[in-house]
Amino acid sequence: MDISELNQTIGEIEADVAAKLAVTTAIDALRGYETAIVGKKGSLGSLIASIKDYPPDQRGGVGQAINEAKQRVQAKVAERLGQLQAEHAAKEASQASTFDPTLPATPRPMGSVHPVTAVQWEIERAFERLGFTVEAGPEMEEEYNNFEALNIPPTHPARDMQDTFWLKNGMVLRTHTSPVQHRSMLKFGAPLRVIVPGRCFRYETIDASHENTFHQVEGLMIDRDISIPNLIAMARTLLAEVMQREVELRVRPGYFPFVEPGIEIDMNCQICGGSGCATCKRSGWIEILPAGMVHPNVLRAGGIDPEEYTGFAFGLGLTRLAMMKFGFRDIRVLNAGDLRALVSPRRLGGPTIPRRQEGATSTASCDSTS
Ligand code: DAH
Repeated sequence: MDISELNQTIGEIEADVAAKLAVTTAIDALRGYETAIVGKKGSLGSLIASIKDYPPDQRGGVGQAINEAKQRVQAKVAERLGQLQAEHAAKEASQASTFDPTLPATPRPMGSVHPVTAVQWEIERAFERLGFTVEAGPEMEEEYNNFEALNIPPTHPARDMQDTFWLKNGMVLRTHTSPVQHRSMLKFGAPLRVIVPGRCFRYETIDASHENTFHQVEGLMIDRDISIPNLIAMARTLLAEVMQREVELRVRPGYFPFVEPGIEIDMNCQICGGSGCATCKRSGWIEILPAGMVHPNVLRAGGIDPEEYTGFAFGLGLTRLAMMKFGFRDIRVLNAGDLRALVSPRRLGGPTIPRRQEGATSTASCDSTS
């Protein structure tokens, strides 16, 4: 082809390139297209090979024309490539951002719950479903309510079962939640269903299994024809609910002046499953629920006729149950303000404190963990 034909061809190629670039949006396609034009075998690139066919005096001009065209094409492709890359990055950035300032604020769970509180709430929910009311009583209690009203007269040896903090005003720090049995009978009369979670105090030397401050949940159900099987059925429901699995129970006789008969309901040890460990003193059982049928003297003191009504009562060791549930082997952790003992609201299934190895200090049974 002569020079004018060559220039025309180059012009057509460049026009073609301009049209193509305007409609190409894919970066890869653009790169491939560039090669198809300026590459050795491309429509422009291959013209280089024809330079030798021109008379020697024209070859320089032909080469220059082709090269300049190549440079223009490359510059146009690069410009379009830059445009496409910028568009692409902007699109990706907008997709990656999930922040939507128009959405309402979602509250994040804040703070956490003490293990004893967590178990207390579970018990309250379970009993509320069974028709029980949740009551509270004072921690500073009349001596009469803590003892006499519960069939423990001043000279009774059963007073020795509970080491008491006596206050200068003649009152006591309650040694158990049982005084609220008396208060509830006076307040509501019969029939009656209450539970009383609360803090109790005993004059104790503190060690891994003894605390001077611990929690119980008192339970009291008074109605016509209440008997021990009602009590055992309730105990089974309650403990299975808290441990979130079926538990085995064992019933033994027990002595408490405010019940007759008195029983001890034991649960198979939840740490070793019943095979025997330090926590259950190798017995496989944990004393968890002292209970019994309310003594007629206690009903009478509460203004309820024992000929007409019977009832059961229990004093659940809340602190001990929390230790069982969460695997704490040292009771002192619970009152020490150790933040690692707190139960995350997201995982009420367990505390963040590392569990100690089996065979370490036991949570031996004692009144002050009950
Ligand atoms: N108050 C008792 C204690 O702290 C526990 C208890 C035993 C409570 C038997 C009861 C009961 O209501 O029936 O040792």
